Formats: sequence, structure tokens, C-alpha cells
Amino acid sequence: MYIIIALSLIILAITTAIAIITIISLLIFGYVKVPYVKTPEKGLNKMFELAKIKPNEKVYDLGCGNGQFVFKAEKDFQAKASGFELSPYPYLLAKTRQFLKGYKSKIYFKNFLNQDLSDADVIFCFLMPGACKKLSLKLDHELTSKTRIISYGFGLLNLKNFVLVEKCYNKNTPIYYYENNQLSITRE
Ligand SMILES: C[S@@+](CC[C@H](N)C(=O)[O-])C[C@H]1O[C@@H](n2cnc3c(N)ncnc32)[C@H](O)[C@@H]1O
Repeated sequence: MYIIIALSLIILAITTAIAIITIISLLIFGYVKVPYVKTPEKGLNKMFELAKIKPNEKVYDLGCGNGQFVFKAEKDFQAKASGFELSPYPYLLAKTRQFLKGYKSKIYFKNFLNQDLSDADVIFCFLMPGACKKLSLKLDHELTSKTRIISYGFGLLNLKNFVLVEKCYNKNTPIYYYENNQLSITRE
């Protein structure tokens, strides 16, 4: 009898937790208007090729999902990587992966629009056009000349201090690589 009551309470607790997380996820989706979709592996590898990350560089993934960019930057490039995620499911996935693999990178449950990104060497993102617009305005205002920005799917059309250096494709999906005007001029 006690076992049945205990099991029923555990099932009720789990169901309630799942329901709460789902409701929070839906509310957050309504706010950020960007669904959680993983960047495919080929696209991810192409973005890392463009980024040319050096050890100890600061790498941010804005809307980091399960943390795949953050952990790859740490594991394969010895970068100081951080990810920001507002949706509970991908955030919990990222934290679980981090715990299981012992990664040192930072995963924040935080709106990246409220984060100072001025020390970034590399910024990765995969967002929707509305979010890209808000982000462009922030990055233009905040970033220094060293930062490289790589965006999957949609361009950061409102950037003024950055130039589109390369646009390539993963199947039919565009990948945009931006550098600050000054960095670009120095390289020429
Ligand atoms: C398309 S997914 C990309 C996930 C990951 N970067 C990848 O490529 O595998 C975009 C993620 O950004 C998150 N996101 C959107 N706006 C955000 C914001 N302002 N702050 C934090 N996370 C945000 C969403 O919750 C979603 O999980």
C-alpha cells in the first residue's frame, strides 16, 4: 500500500515538473520567438572553420541549445567558451552534458541581450530574423574590432561596423561570417 502511494507521489511530482518546464518553455518561446533547433554537424564544422579559434580566445554561443558549440570550442580549440540559453529544455540538456563530460565552460540560464559581450573574440548564433535585428544593434554598439561573428541561417543585416566577409552554404542554408571593418582593413 505504502509503495503504491510513494510511487504515485513520485509520478505526480515528475509529471508536474514536466508540465511546469513545458509551460515555462512555451512562455519563453513566445517571448524570444526562436525555437530550439540544433545546427547540423556539417554546418557547425563549417562555422568553426570560418572562426579560426585560437587557444584562450573568448567564444560565445548566443542561444546555445545543448551546448554543442561551447563544448567543441573548449574541447577542440582550448577556448574560454560560454553559452547563454533561456529555454529550460536545451539549458538542462547542456548542463547535463557538461556534468557528464566534465566540461569547464560556462552555461548560463540568461537572456544574452542582457549580457555584456564586449570581450568576445568569436560569436556564434543561430537565431530568427527578429532576434538577429535586435542582436545586430547590440553588437554594433558593444563589440571591439577583434570580434568575428558567425551566424547560421539568417544574416545580421543591421550591422554597420561589421562587414560580411564570407557567405557560404550548408546544403541550402546560408552561413554568414562578419568581421569588424577595421579588422578587415588590417588583413587586406
Ligand atoms: C536555433 S537554436 C540554436 C541552438 C544552438 N546554438 C545550436 O546551433 O545548436 C536557438 C536557441 O536560442 C535560444 N534563444 C533565443 N533567444 C535567446 C535569448 N535572448 N537569450 C538566450 N537564449 C535565446 C532559444 O531558446 C534556442 O534554444
